[in-house]
Amino acid sequence: HSILILNGPNLNLLGTRQPEVYGSETLADIEARCRDKAADLGIELAFAQSNHEGTLVDLIHESRGTHAGIILNAGAYTHTSVALRDAISSVELPVIELHLSNIHARESFRHVSHIAPVALGQICGFGSAGYLLSMDAMLSHLTQKPP
Ligand code: DQA
Repeated sequence: HSILILNGPNLNLLGTRQPEVYGSETLADIEARCRDKAADLGIELAFAQSNHEGTLVDLIHESRGTHAGIILNAGAYTHTSVALRDAISSVELPVIELHLSNIHARESFRHVSHIAPVALGQICGFGSAGYLLSMDAMLSHLTQKPP
């Protein structure tokens, strides 16, 4: 299996961005931990970040035929982007919605997710550990026998 971990706007600033909310690890630190885990699980991993909504849409489209599933931390686009939601619906790949922080415990504008209705599920509030948890969740989904 190959999976894509896709990160949206401002996540390139992890490490220095509101560390009290998002922790002190950089995105490169998190990527390194994900790559170690992918090697343990025996899966291929692509890891990407963009601040641009259209680029994220393109990367979702390009995942079709390349990746078996997508773990998506869409950042603030979670709360605004119908385009990302439509891209997910269009490619029919399993998507896990991921956030470092517990979006439900924060400002009310973060309680709305356009991604959630088209995602397999959501993992939020566990900091960078959520990246590793979502890899387990995706692999368990992909290897699950059909009912
Ligand atoms: C985030 C939560 C979003 O509300 C916020 O806009 C982000 C990061 C998280 O990982 O906790 O950029 O997706």
